[in-house]
Amino acid sequence: MNILYVTSEAAPFCKTGGLADVAGSLPLALAAEGADVSVVLPLYQSVKAKFADKLEFVCYDYVDLGWRNCYCGLFMTKQDGVTWYFIDNEQYFNRPTLYGHIDDGERFGFFSRAVVRMLDHLASWPDVIHCNDWQSALVPVYLEDLSVREEKYHGIATSLSIHNIEYQGKYNAYSMGELFGLDQGWATDGTMIMDGCVNLLKGAILTAGALNAVSPTYAKELMDPYFAHGLDSVLQKNAHKMRGILNGIDLVRYNPATDGLIAATFSKDDLAGKAACKQALQDMMGLPQEPNIPVVGLVSRLVSHKGLDLMCQQIAAMMELPMQLVVLGKGDEVYEEFFRWAQTEYPGRIAVRLDYNEALSSAIYAGSDLYVMPSKSEPCGLSQMIAMRYGTVPVVRETGGLKDSVQPYDHIQDSGNGFSFAGYTGAELVDALRRAVYLYKDFPEEFAKLRGRAMESDFSWNSSAKAYLAMYEEISGKNLVKEV
Ligand code: GLC
Repeated sequence: MNILYVTSEAAPFCKTGGLADVAGSLPLALAAEGADVSVVLPLYQSVKAKFADKLEFVCYDYVDLGWRNCYCGLFMTKQDGVTWYFIDNEQYFNRPTLYGHIDDGERFGFFSRAVVRMLDHLASWPDVIHCNDWQSALVPVYLEDLSVREEKYHGIATSLSIHNIEYQGKYNAYSMGELFGLDQGWATDGTMIMDGCVNLLKGAILTAGALNAVSPTYAKELMDPYFAHGLDSVLQKNAHKMRGILNGIDLVRYNPATDGLIAATFSKDDLAGKAACKQALQDMMGLPQEPNIPVVGLVSRLVSHKGLDLMCQQIAAMMELPMQLVVLGKGDEVYEEFFRWAQTEYPGRIAVRLDYNEALSSAIYAGSDLYVMPSKSEPCGLSQMIAMRYGTVPVVRETGGLKDSVQPYDHIQDSGNGFSFAGYTGAELVDALRRAVYLYKDFPEEFAKLRGRAMESDFSWNSSAKAYLAMYEEISGKNLVKEV
């Protein structure tokens, strides 16, 4: 089976968030199961700068987009059993950042159009095209639109992963023909219009053959207006196409026994290195070395769905607990301002870096004892899984993938791999932190068992890759192994 995975970011090529981790590891897992997998990405400036010597020029062509005919170069490289394609257009992608430009709609409209128009130039014609979030949501729309006239597109099955429904790609209704080259048939409430805007994600929800959320709980939550950001009724009508598949993480990249970015390596059976990582983290962040006081880590985009409001409300109550807090992230001004203030208000207790920094994030996953994630909504969340792999016990709110990956500690049953709370309230957050902090401080043997269970949790792609393949087989009617 030939699968084409379309994404706006993938590690190690380009990354702003969790999508890049998934797109950088799921295709490898699918290939390991025997599928023929290609990934297609925009050729951003940063990719050119870092990977120029690896990229091979395939060809160029012109891609129709509304009234324009745009240059499109195609580059490729092979890595880890997967073919990686890159769509080149300097006007759209030769910029210092991936997103946040005034013409993002046009840029990713071009990207999606180019993916469809360049299929002829790929090494193999896909059985399934899998798109991700709003940036590639126009792919199934274009395929359906073109299928009316061009038979060659008929046999391609499509699917869409929703990583975060908050971002939908909403544009002025005039952009339908002007920017995206779609006729007025698409411009109705029954098609791509939503609240008066062109809504790209809605287009994919309607046209893709299958939909999936990145955790089973998020798949259920998406049917609810509280979580769906206006798309609940559209999703309810398409619920028959929806399933939830929990993300995995890259167990090779995230392995405390081999990670070259951390101060000392360690494993479940030899935790000496973890203590060294804690000391190194405290040194780096200017925190006093107190081995009996837990360090609570947080690595996050500082945006509202991460539940940071609860921390803003409760910081005084949190600081009454014997704990140190380490925060790494960038984002909304209001949270950056808050954490800047908190660090000066509680010197020696709170240390903050308003930054995006891979090495420091590894130091936090490895050197912390607890990891806090009070998200208001969390489609999947990867940090809690990475933290657990590094023996850092999560304290999370029970939503989305946090609920699916963290089982609450139960001292009677001797079970669970973390701490959790259900209600979105500051009091419940503090209560969960209190339970975690005192277990660490007063019951070290119990805490060690809990940490062991966290480290043993299975966050590999094994079962999820199989679930994706089952989905592809269902929508394409093709089997994984080619019939001979
Ligand atoms: C988005 C979601 C996050 C998820 C990631 C990968 O960033 O907010 O919860 O883990 O996508 O699917």
